[in-house]
Amino acid sequence: MATDAIESLSPVWGRITDIVVDRGEGSCLYDTVGRRYLDFTCGIAVTNTGHCHPKVVAAIQAQAARLIHGQINILFHQPMLDLVGELQTVVPLALDSFFFSNSGAEAVEGAVKLCKHATGRPNVIVFSGSFHGRTHLTMAMTTSKTVYRVGYQPLVPGIFVAPYPYAYRLGMDEMQAAEHAMAELKRLLKSQTAPDETACIVVEPVLGEGGYVVPPARFMTELRELCDETGILLVADEIQTGFGRTGKFFAVAHFGIVPDVMTMAKGIASGLPLSCVVTRKDLAARWRTGTHGGTFGGNAVACAAGAATLRVIKEEALVENAAERGRQLTLGLRRLQLDFPIIGDVRGLGLMVATEFTSEGQPATTTAKALVKTAQEAGLLLLTCGTYDNVIRWIPPLVVTQDEIEEALDIFAAALDNTITS
Ligand SMILES: Cc1ncc(COP(=O)(O)O)c(C=O)c1O
Repeated sequence: MATDAIESLSPVWGRITDIVVDRGEGSCLYDTVGRRYLDFTCGIAVTNTGHCHPKVVAAIQAQAARLIHGQINILFHQPMLDLVGELQTVVPLALDSFFFSNSGAEAVEGAVKLCKHATGRPNVIVFSGSFHGRTHLTMAMTTSKTVYRVGYQPLVPGIFVAPYPYAYRLGMDEMQAAEHAMAELKRLLKSQTAPDETACIVVEPVLGEGGYVVPPARFMTELRELCDETGILLVADEIQTGFGRTGKFFAVAHFGIVPDVMTMAKGIASGLPLSCVVTRKDLAARWRTGTHGGTFGGNAVACAAGAATLRVIKEEALVENAAERGRQLTLGLRRLQLDFPIIGDVRGLGLMVATEFTSEGQPATTTAKALVKTAQEAGLLLLTCGTYDNVIRWIPPLVVTQDEIEEALDIFAAALDNTITS
């Protein structure tokens, strides 16, 4: 029966494992035969409060019994108002107008539509290695891998791509990478899309799907200055980096910059579908009423889960835990790097950590994939990322304990021993 159903699922989903999951609790998943897995994928950076946090579950159950759907064009509902109240305490102060939708891609679509109205300009700049979603617009804004676009081209026009300051890939130090990326961005504004035709620059404050790359702080501050000088709006896509993941509530705080628009999803509601675009009220006032919306955006149960998620993150000091456990994880991986030079780079912020595998300067994709498989067999779930899939990303829940990090490092060390020597 289960096999029949599995065979009836669309083959368009790329698959990572064949695990049939039964339940989740904290940092762990349990399959239908009771096997435990340490989940260091977090459903792709979603379950920041851990699987089925009791306070989030209680909020979902209570709201489901009261009101499931209260459509936002027709009604206001309390969970959305509560969520706005919670978000106001964590987003940059200047950002005070919230729009809700269901997925990350929808939030990015919304952000670009807002920027087009607010500026009256048509074009968008993104960075190489970016991932912003899988709709037609966000596919055009996604440059991490061709698999996300193949067979769908030509895509939405008016999207221009500048290099991300990926120091390790460029073989540069941070300063050189920042200078190179800024010079190329300025060249793009001279050669391909003039500032007065450019609505926004959309940046991931830590590159996600493209390889978990932390940009030099100098690049981010210069990006803010460039946007101020040109009237181009700066959109921070915090969909993967938000809600404590990087050891700050939002990653832009690491660089001391405030974007004009921020997109959020993934960790916002501990696994219920919800996303958000936040901007300044003066920009929101230029987003013409009725020109954007959606049936389900800001669903009552999802908003209740979101408000509970934010309270849990604050009450349980999960942002601080992300910073602390992130240091432990990064240190442990750097120790392994000394024994296994195929780990070319260990980088990250908080619990958004990457190990990039390279051999003789080339991406060691086979090794990275073999390690993910061996770790899975030993009970640790990991994911790869990067254009060449040669980066293993470490994204445990923010509730992860010191012992669980040690357990994961032990499993990974054994997987390295097996994979590299065999
Ligand atoms: C930075 C970023 N933006 C946008 C998206 C798209 O989000 P969704 O898959 O919810 O549409 C993702 C998903 O991985 C992401 O990491």
